[in-house]
Amino acid sequence: MEIVLSGIRPTGNLHLGNYFGAVKNFVKMQEENHCFFFIADYHSLTTHPNPKDLQKNVNTILVEYLASGIDPQKATLYVQSDIPQTAELYLFLNMNAYLGELERCASFKEKVRNHQDNVNAGLLTYPSLMAADILIHHADKVPVGKDQQQHLEMTRVFAARFNRIYGVSYFKEPQAFNFGQNLVKIPGLDGSTKMGKSEGNAIYLADEPDVIRKKVMKAKTDMGPKEPNAEKPQEIANLFTIMQHVSSPEVYQYFDQKYNDCSIRYGDLKKQLAEDIVLFCQPIREKIQDLEKNTPYLQKIRQTGKEKATQSAQKTIEEIRHIIGF
Ligand code: TYM
Repeated sequence: MEIVLSGIRPTGNLHLGNYFGAVKNFVKMQEENHCFFFIADYHSLTTHPNPKDLQKNVNTILVEYLASGIDPQKATLYVQSDIPQTAELYLFLNMNAYLGELERCASFKEKVRNHQDNVNAGLLTYPSLMAADILIHHADKVPVGKDQQQHLEMTRVFAARFNRIYGVSYFKEPQAFNFGQNLVKIPGLDGSTKMGKSEGNAIYLADEPDVIRKKVMKAKTDMGPKEPNAEKPQEIANLFTIMQHVSSPEVYQYFDQKYNDCSIRYGDLKKQLAEDIVLFCQPIREKIQDLEKNTPYLQKIRQTGKEKATQSAQKTIEEIRHIIGF
């Protein structure tokens, strides 16, 4: 049985990118693997949330994980900060993580470009905290979206380096994983290549049907194809990519054909896409509304996850302390 692990930062509601890039795989993988899914609340501190928002956002992800189909009987579902062993491993890994490689990380460079007022050490060492999450439970596979690929490469580097420095073969080298082979990147509705909360272009699993319809109808399009079988410009390709995930293959082929013979009407495509997203999100949204009210249940899930994850993490940290020489 393989060990599977992944996490999501609590910065608001889950969007279609989080679902199709990550959570969809979590739900499938929990059937046959030993799974750890967590809420990465340490990671979210890089943007300095206030305590109330932090608590609320952790709760939101817990509810939305469950509503999306994560079964706490099958997978260990926990909150990162409930397992402080992760923070200790992060400290150890940071001793062998070099400034140059951390600075070269694409996500760090992007943060430096976009948030010059808050380039903190937590952002710089984000990859070693992520490696600590993964290595603390000896994960084999890490289901994530395409944007996390480089972090997984760095995790492998840190794992191999630790083994080399201490002359052990203690850590495995985990792989980023998606059932469809290639890692997924869900685009935004604004023509950009990535759907994201901070990009302001996301559709959330918890969005009401009318909100979804409005967002999709406002999505960027162009004047339409001028010749048969033309290459789709980015904003049109984006709508088709989302359609590929939420609609049936027949619907996708129908509109693809219409695009190729230049008879497509983007209004029709958007209406269909909106309804398919509404249908997809509706059962999840209803479960979210039910679960939100059930505080005792949520507390119980969190406590059980903490106990299960602590066992595994404590064993690892004791072994590492021994290897290091404490
Ligand atoms: P985060 O919280 O930004 O995103 C959570 C997951 O959603 C995926 N994702 C997407 N996938 C496809 N298309 C998109 N537009 C899209 N947007 C987000 C992300 O790839 C991710 O899988 N650093 C991580 C959280 C984390 C983690 C870990 C993950 C912390 N420790 C250990 C795995 C293992 C993050 O910020 O993801």
